[in-house]
Amino acid sequence: MDETERIIKEVDSCRPVELLSGDLAGQTVSVKGWVYRIRKTKERVFIVIRDSTGIVQALVERSQVSEDVWETANKLYIESSLILKGKLRKDERAPTGYEIDVESLIPVSIGEPFPIGKDQSVEFLLDYRHLWLRSQKLTKIMKVRHYVINYLQEYLQSEGFWNLTPPIIVKSACEGGSTLFPIDYFGERAYLTQSSQLYGEAFIYSLEKIYVFAPSFRAEPSRTVRHLAEYWHLEPEAAWYDFEKNIKLQEGLVSYVCQKMVENHSELLKDIGRDPAQLKKVEPPFPRMSYDEMVDILQSKGLDFEWGQDPGADEEKILTKDLELPLIVHHYPSEVKAFYMREDPNRKGTVLTNDMLAPEGHGEIITGSERIWKMDELIEKMRRFGLDPDSEDYKWYVDLRRYGSVPHSGFGLGIERFLKWILNLDHIRDAIPFPRTINRVRP
Ligand code: 4AD
Ligand code: MG
Repeated sequence: MDETERIIKEVDSCRPVELLSGDLAGQTVSVKGWVYRIRKTKERVFIVIRDSTGIVQALVERSQVSEDVWETANKLYIESSLILKGKLRKDERAPTGYEIDVESLIPVSIGEPFPIGKDQSVEFLLDYRHLWLRSQKLTKIMKVRHYVINYLQEYLQSEGFWNLTPPIIVKSACEGGSTLFPIDYFGERAYLTQSSQLYGEAFIYSLEKIYVFAPSFRAEPSRTVRHLAEYWHLEPEAAWYDFEKNIKLQEGLVSYVCQKMVENHSELLKDIGRDPAQLKKVEPPFPRMSYDEMVDILQSKGLDFEWGQDPGADEEKILTKDLELPLIVHHYPSEVKAFYMREDPNRKGTVLTNDMLAPEGHGEIITGSERIWKMDELIEKMRRFGLDPDSEDYKWYVDLRRYGSVPHSGFGLGIERFLKWILNLDHIRDAIPFPRTINRVRP
């Protein structure tokens, strides 16, 4: 262990967030972290030091420190790592209201000049995503991501749902074959999963209410603000749930997360630019609209949209831009939705499905449905959709209806789509640490 490692081990350091609580003013404190900002003058170096909790300013005054400390302070770059020690003082001029008068300063790694400066292009920041993740904006978004993922699961678990893990490498398409990423599986063609739903359905026969939280992959050649090639997908599936109960679960889940975020993390939301008062309004029931009504509305707004078409981002934006609550759109035509959805016996040609569209123009965050649970009906519909129910790839799924089938429903919520709305982000890429999009698979 070298000297620096020994100090890291032994130092009793405080976090910036603790320093800002007020009780420590006048005391000598140590802080471990990274240089967030630095300003050097002839007699003074101002260092804003950050860690995962926040930032605090430190002042190195030439006349007050050893020659050694002064020299080290002058060598520091943005993002150099260090440990500093000094007396904490209230100071209105400092960015977070406190300043440390530095007595000692130990560089952990001075490193090299940081490549990211002010006003860099989006592409440049994506090239340096591994470093840009240190920015305050992304740090805060990742904290919200953490909380949101926890609250989503907390709600489902409180409703009695079990958390299960599906395979990621699969043979069968869930959402139609056109957006599968093929992989070479020991000489055999396999795919990265588009959705874990089919496996989620297998779990309900033993555990009844389950959810899968896993990545899904879509080889969609879409260049939009809401498409990722790899995204995180929360997929609850429940035995005995019908269309109506499935919608209630979605409403309960989404509003629970919004209320928890407002209750416990309003400051964080505000810091990222989301007014908590908006999310506070997200209480069930959410407004509903049938697909038929949607077609009328879109046509009345002058859009060239016919019954039987699948609405995209543009249509959804028009429907939701002035809304404050999510919108439930239900009963889409069978042909625009996936093969496993159950037809409504009372409204032929439409399926017992719903999308949830996030307000303020964000659009689809959930698709859910009642599943076909009768074997004959499933086989007939699979054939109609060009899938072979007797093939090795789908036989197992048909088997789920062969042995003790029951009515069931489920849905999928895209985590990044959800975050994009919760934080009112312009682009989905900032809702995930390392976005995978059509033109980017690194870093
Ligand atoms: O609407 P999708 O394709 O539905 C399914 O995959 C069902 N099997 C889910 C289920 O019933 N278990 O995808 C579900 C959700 C969408 O509503 C959206 O939030 C998200 O997944 N999603 C994407 N998110 C980011 N990038 C993409 N390319 C996405 N495609 C879907
Ligand atoms: Mg969908």
